[in-house]
Amino acid sequence: MDGCWQLLLLLCLSAVAEFGEANDAPLVKRMTNKLLQVIPPNDKSNVSILVIKGNQITLNETDQQALATYTTLVELYLGENLVTTVPAKFFSGLSHLRVLSLSRNNISSLDPEAFSRLDVLEKLDLSNNKLTDLCDKTFINLKSLKILNLQENPWNCSCSLLDTIGRMKEANISFGGPNVTCASPAEQKGRNLLDSINLCSTSSPVIVHTDHKSPTPPVTSQQFKEINNTPTTTSTSHNCTVSK
Ligand SMILES: *[C@@H]1O[C@H](CO)[C@@H](O)[C@H](O)[C@H]1NC(C)=O
Ligand SMILES: *[C@@H]1O[C@H](CO)[C@@H](O)[C@H](O)[C@H]1NC(C)=O
Ligand SMILES: *[C@@H]1O[C@H](CO)[C@@H](O)[C@H](O)[C@H]1NC(C)=O
Ligand SMILES: *[C@@H]1O[C@H](CO)[C@@H](O)[C@H](O)[C@H]1NC(C)=O
Ligand SMILES: *[C@@H]1O[C@H](CO)[C@@H](O)[C@H](O)[C@H]1NC(C)=O
Ligand SMILES: *[C@@H]1O[C@H](CO)[C@@H](O)[C@H](O)[C@H]1NC(C)=O
Ligand SMILES: *[C@@H]1O[C@H](CO)[C@@H](O)[C@H](O)[C@H]1NC(C)=O
Repeated sequence: MDGCWQLLLLLCLSAVAEFGEANDAPLVKRMTNKLLQVIPPNDKSNVSILVIKGNQITLNETDQQALATYTTLVELYLGENLVTTVPAKFFSGLSHLRVLSLSRNNISSLDPEAFSRLDVLEKLDLSNNKLTDLCDKTFINLKSLKILNLQENPWNCSCSLLDTIGRMKEANISFGGPNVTCASPAEQKGRNLLDSINLCSTSSPVIVHTDHKSPTPPVTSQQFKEINNTPTTTSTSHNCTVSK
C-alpha cells in the first residue's frame, strides 16, 4: 500500500515539474500598486509583458534607461501613474512593442517624436488624460497602428485636430471606446469628436472625383505617412512645437 502512494506521489511530482517547464507562455512581470517611483530594470531575460499600473512613475530619464533593458517586451501597461508628458523617442529601445497603455495618467503633452521607432505598435491607449490636441507628426511613425484609445481627454476640437483625426480614420486606424468628446471650443463642447470630423473640409486629400461612382478605398498607414509628408495637403498644418 505504501509503495502505491509513493508511486502516485512520484507521478504527481513529475507532472508538476513538466508543467513548470512548459514555459512557452509569455513571461509576465506585474508590479501594481507598489508606490514605485521609477521603473525597475529588467532582472530576467525575455519579459514580454510588463504591467506597472497604479504607481508613481513619471517617465523620466531613469525610467527610459530601465525600459531599454526590456528588449523583448511586447506589451507595456503604465496606467494610473503620474506621467504628465512623454519625451522624444522615449520607447525607442522597444522594437517589438505591440501594445502600449498610458491610460489614466495626467498627460497634457506628447513630444512629436514620443512614439518614434515603435514600428510594430498596434494598439495605443491614451484615454483618461489631459490631452487637448494631437499632431500628425506624433503618429506618422506608427506604421502598424490599428487601435487608438482617446476617450476622456479634454479635446480642443479645432480644425487642426479634426483634420488629424480624419486622416487617421482614412488610414484605417480605429478609435476604441465611447465618449471621445470635445471640451472646447465652446460651440463644440460635448460633441463626439469622431462625428465632428466632417465639419472641417480639408481632410480628404485622396478623394478623386470621377463621373461613375466608385467606392474610395481606405488609405493604408503607409499612405497616411505619405500624405502627411506632402506639404501641399496640410493646409492647416499643426504647430507641434512642445512648449516647455
Ligand atoms: C530568450 O529568447 C531568446 C530568443 O528568443 C533565446 O535565444 C534565449 O535563450 C532566451 N533566454 C531565456 C533565458 O529564456
Ligand atoms: C526620476 O524620478 C525618480 C523619482 O522621483 C528619481 O528618484 C530619479 O532621480 C529621477 N531621475 C532623473 C534622471 O531625474
Ligand atoms: C494633474 O495635473 C494637474 C495640472 O495640470 C494638477 O493640478 C493635478 O494635481 C495633477 N494630478 C495628479 C494626480 O498629479
Ligand atoms: C483651441 O485651439 C485653437 C486653435 O489652435 C486655439 O486658438 C484655442 O486657444 C484653443 N482653445 C483652448 C481652450 O485650448
Ligand atoms: C481596415 O481594418 C479592418 C478591421 O480593423 C481590416 O479588416 C481591413 O483589412 C483594414 N483595411 C486596410 C486597407 O488596412
Ligand atoms: C459616456 O458619457 C455618458 C454621459 O456623460 C455617461 O453616462 C457614460 O457612463 C459614459 N460612458 C463611459 C463608458 O464612460
Ligand atoms: C510654433 O509655436 C512656437 C512656440 O509657441 C512659436 O515660436 C513658433 O513661431 C510657432 N511656429 C509656427 C509655424 O507657427
